[in-house]
Amino acid sequence: MKPYRFFILLLFLSSQISNSVAQNSLPTTDSESDPVKTKWWTDARFGMFIHWGVYSSPGRGEWLMYQEHIPFSEYALLADQFNPQKYNPKEWVAKAKAAGMKYVVLTTRHHDGFCLFDSKVSDFTAPKTGSKRDLIKEFADACHEAGMRMGFYYSLQDWHFPGVLPQGSPVNSSTMKLLADQARDQVRELLTNYGKVDILWFDGLTVDGPEGWHSKELLEIARKLQPEILINDRSGLPGDFATPENVVAAQPRPWESCFCMNRTWGYAPNDRNYKPVNEILRLLASCASQSGNFLLNVSPDGEGIIPVEQDELLKKIGKWMQVNGKAIYGAGPSPVVAPNLGMTSRVGDKVYMLIQRWPGSTVPFAWCGSKVKSARMLTTGQLARIEQKGDRVWLHDLPQTPPDPWLNVIELTFEGEPKASEPAYR
Ligand code: GLC
Repeated sequence: MKPYRFFILLLFLSSQISNSVAQNSLPTTDSESDPVKTKWWTDARFGMFIHWGVYSSPGRGEWLMYQEHIPFSEYALLADQFNPQKYNPKEWVAKAKAAGMKYVVLTTRHHDGFCLFDSKVSDFTAPKTGSKRDLIKEFADACHEAGMRMGFYYSLQDWHFPGVLPQGSPVNSSTMKLLADQARDQVRELLTNYGKVDILWFDGLTVDGPEGWHSKELLEIARKLQPEILINDRSGLPGDFATPENVVAAQPRPWESCFCMNRTWGYAPNDRNYKPVNEILRLLASCASQSGNFLLNVSPDGEGIIPVEQDELLKKIGKWMQVNGKAIYGAGPSPVVAPNLGMTSRVGDKVYMLIQRWPGSTVPFAWCGSKVKSARMLTTGQLARIEQKGDRVWLHDLPQTPPDPWLNVIELTFEGEPKASEPAYR
């Protein structure tokens, strides 16, 4: 064996060992994700995150209560004023659908403890305050009616709970017990009263760890009430998928990167730091081409309206997805790569080149171990003339300038399976 190959083998073996060490060190009290159960989700690749609550009216983000250290008596007034007359979840779902998203995850309760749903164990809920409506019921009906997969975000942390703020963490053990009881009861309510729930998206594992929150029990209850439900990893147990935040970080298990369009999850009209559409598409493609999902956040205002900047981005994304979605849904990594041009994804036996740096009328790539049968630009439908010498390939007769302003996609088909000629250096 050549010395460099031996070195690569060593690297490979050590990464396998460290992966298995990392996996073995995860708590094993919840089942590892099941590929059959997660299939719809890994095929989906793209979902909408919605941060919405009483904090959406002042428009200074969802951490407002904590960051401005607002006492509950004052913060509670927001709930009395929260009466979203323009709330129309059917429209949200329609917008998600038109953007090519296959599931929607809504904050049923954020860290401030305000529940958009009806709860027997809290008075700080939409039906018992200003709006007098079960806003989650309306959301669930809209999702079910549209055949949209539905996720419930639920924060364990609850700042409004007596004894949690202003003292901060850790709380004393009797408060912790009350908090955990409340979480258990509310998870039960959420998964009993709203029909089929596809995803339970925990967050806010602070104050205590999975033992204090009785996460094992929470997950057991959830899986009993909704046998097909997928649960994320933020209860402190591995659940079905990992959730890197505002970063693309591929994992050896199902994973989903959630991203803000700007830099705030909750409504913040003065946060003008919007990512341009090409950057959002790059993030989406980057997740999909590494077998990850992309959960893109919108932040409706206190009335329930998705801000115009976000709406415009969704429309652009939808336009792109309509033509190029094939490169995203169900995608994973491709053995044939072109790192100098951008990303490549694989769906079945097709490879999609997601080209960020358009090279001109000839697109070259190499280390290709299979014969390329066809190469078609998805934007224009145009077929390229293929030249292949061994593992080097040139796609000729393509436009000199990139026809898609954001991200251009070429679909490759092969004789047989796509393969690399060498384990490529990426
Ligand atoms: C964090 C933040 C929260 C946001 C979430 C989204 O946990 O506390 O505000 O909802 O991430 O991933």
